[in-house]
Amino acid sequence: MSEPKKLFVKTYGCQMNVYDSERMAEALGAKGYVPTDRADDADMILLNTCHIREKAAEKVYSELGRFKPLREANPDLKIGVAGCVAQAEGAEIMRRQPMVDLVVGPQTYHRLPEMMERVEAGEAALDTDFPEEDKFAHLPKARKAPRGPTAFLTVQEGCDKFCAFCVVPYTRGAEVSRPVERLLREAQDLVARGVREITLLGQNVNAYHGEGPNGREWGLARLIWELAEVDGLDRIRFTTSHPNDMDDDLIAAHGTCEKLMPYLHLPVQAGSDRILKAMNRKHTADDYIRLIERIRAARPDLLLSGDFIVGFPGEGEADFQATLDLVETVGYGQAYSFKYSARPGTPAAERDPVPTEGADQRLQRLQELLSRQQRAAQDAMVGREVSVLFEKPGRLAGQTVGKSEYLHAVHVTGPETLRGQIAKVRIVASEANSLAGELI
Ligand code: 5AD
Ligand code: SF4
Repeated sequence: MSEPKKLFVKTYGCQMNVYDSERMAEALGAKGYVPTDRADDADMILLNTCHIREKAAEKVYSELGRFKPLREANPDLKIGVAGCVAQAEGAEIMRRQPMVDLVVGPQTYHRLPEMMERVEAGEAALDTDFPEEDKFAHLPKARKAPRGPTAFLTVQEGCDKFCAFCVVPYTRGAEVSRPVERLLREAQDLVARGVREITLLGQNVNAYHGEGPNGREWGLARLIWELAEVDGLDRIRFTTSHPNDMDDDLIAAHGTCEKLMPYLHLPVQAGSDRILKAMNRKHTADDYIRLIERIRAARPDLLLSGDFIVGFPGEGEADFQATLDLVETVGYGQAYSFKYSARPGTPAAERDPVPTEGADQRLQRLQELLSRQQRAAQDAMVGREVSVLFEKPGRLAGQTVGKSEYLHAVHVTGPETLRGQIAKVRIVASEANSLAGELI
């Protein structure tokens, strides 16, 4: 029997890419590929790329350049580019980097096995369609090997919101929700393999509107309640959401569904109504603040996370101050902030940018405020009792690390057998990026 071929996948960007990479590896598993974590050992290298910010395409080209010596050493080495840069650049990738054998977009990777056949026969393979068929229905179903206690599950893809800065509606395409029954099966399968926490993924996950078992459309809250019935599944999370799709049922579920964790990533992007309008966000700062009040009324201890963009075209000092004010009013336990980056093909890319220096300064000021809040939220956990799902060994010998319900990393001194268990922990110290706790 011949040696199994080795596949090295490198993943950039969001959690959905992490999920996609796993599914691509499974799809290629059917073609005899086994995963390796070393590029220099691989028969096939696949970059799963992200196009959301910065010079994404340039980064991919320079990464590809780094594989040149590997290809020279092994002319049989195959190289592929997947994900959102593949979608956006298409055939241009092969023109600029002829070493690339395969280009596949996020909606067609179920076709990887037959694409690989062509590649192995020495042809190039390119597919960046937005096909009619559902890729998930064509991917291998057998995900049997045991795995860690947490997993992602893509329930919705694409976005119809068209925020003026964002490439997602172009790279991932229109909003599509997967049917409830398939998701239920996939969740049950994950649980059978040792998973206890599932994070439901979607570019705009709270817009979920999949077909329910009764043939009617179900919203995200109803899906969560259904998943909560799965024995052995203890924790449910979802990310990422648009404020306008937080419906009453979903808000209520945060108060009443025990398995839904008290953590919510709800990006607002900016605090100035003028900029929110220019961003095509379709809500005001006040709408957002009132929404947060309602969610916190349902779940007072909820830890809130968000995304912010500074330096959006037209943003003046007063607009930026409004963002700082909103952050002060809302109070975040965690947040991501970015300097605006013009994405080709988006409406905002046509507008005059804020000079870099000013934007850099704003980013620094915002990040100082957000990290103060993050620190305060973490420090406030000291003395409290949390429940931790343990995932892996800690940095120091004898330590095991996991996540609290608030998604804080918590480490304790405890046996390795804790992995996969949920245990009560008292927080004793707040450290740089984690909490120290003691088993109760
Ligand atoms: N420039 C900067 N940040 C962006 N994001 C999306 N597009 C851009 C862009 N062009 C940020 C938003 C979004 C997160 C995933 O990335 O904050 O919520
Ligand atoms: Fe992009 Fe999110 Fe806006 Fe959709 S809602 S366009 S994914 S920022």
